[in-house]
Amino acid sequence: MKQFLTLDDLPDLDRAINEGIALKKEPYKWEALGKQKTLGMLFFNPSLRTRLSTQKAAQQLGIKTMIMNFSNEAWALEYEDGTQMSGLRSEHIREAAAVISQYCDVVAIRAFASLTDKEKDEQELVLSSFIKYATIPVINMESATAHPLQALADAITLKERQQNKRPKIVLTWAPHPKALPHAVGNSFARMIQKIEADFVIAQPEGYELNPEITGNTPLVYNQEKAFQGADFVYAKNWCSYSDYGKILKTDDEWMVTAEKMKLTNKAKFMHCLPIRRNIVAEDAVLDSPNSLVIEQANNRTFAAQVVLKKILEHG
Ligand code: CP
Repeated sequence: MKQFLTLDDLPDLDRAINEGIALKKEPYKWEALGKQKTLGMLFFNPSLRTRLSTQKAAQQLGIKTMIMNFSNEAWALEYEDGTQMSGLRSEHIREAAAVISQYCDVVAIRAFASLTDKEKDEQELVLSSFIKYATIPVINMESATAHPLQALADAITLKERQQNKRPKIVLTWAPHPKALPHAVGNSFARMIQKIEADFVIAQPEGYELNPEITGNTPLVYNQEKAFQGADFVYAKNWCSYSDYGKILKTDDEWMVTAEKMKLTNKAKFMHCLPIRRNIVAEDAVLDSPNSLVIEQANNRTFAAQVVLKKILEHG
């Protein structure tokens, strides 16, 4: 695998899931593979899980890591060509990406959506500029429109926990006080479309995800109806896509509660974290034995390990 920008870069999702499960049993089996290799991890936004799990995945493969927070440590980057750089931006992406390529064998990047300019966000300016000017493989650690490492970890979690061949999986919008990007919802939807499942997305009117991503997935506007018979409930907030970046209303009644979970088929509860307790989901849901949120976070390591391994194997 040459790069990992979306789940579509994985040659075979089912195989990758099984590799993740195998790596969990023998995390150091491929420790020699990354000897004398360096992963650069560039953060334009905060992270707990992505940073630590990807670093751990690298360590288990024998890869050294270099981490930089671009929000406060690096020079501010200019992305436009031909511009006279008289403003606050001190370094052009052309040099930055080329220089990082001298120090690292692989570069992983986190750069969220601005949520102010849909067109620019969909162009993935930061990620696509690194792809253009770096001479090493690029990994997406959550971009404006996709979070494929999270989706692969979620796929591993679903495979480990599913009890029937075709589970009912509900992706439900949940309230949040801040406008959040669509990346997790997008990648989760893309991933579920690649596995065997009855999949529905529940959201209030106006919060539909990009129709190019949801495709033929049934959209339900009644959360309680969607929950009926569900085997998995995946909660996530995202801002409006059609009225881009806006919170239309908080819709507190969309919080996932223990009472609503009773409508399901004893569903497992999933969320990518971080989660705002008693806003997105009640304490009783998060603290229930049916909550998989910590398992999902643990599986982030093995998802990242599969991706790094495939990139190193490509050479
Ligand atoms: N789920 C996830 O990506 O967590 P972080 O933002 O903490 O990395």
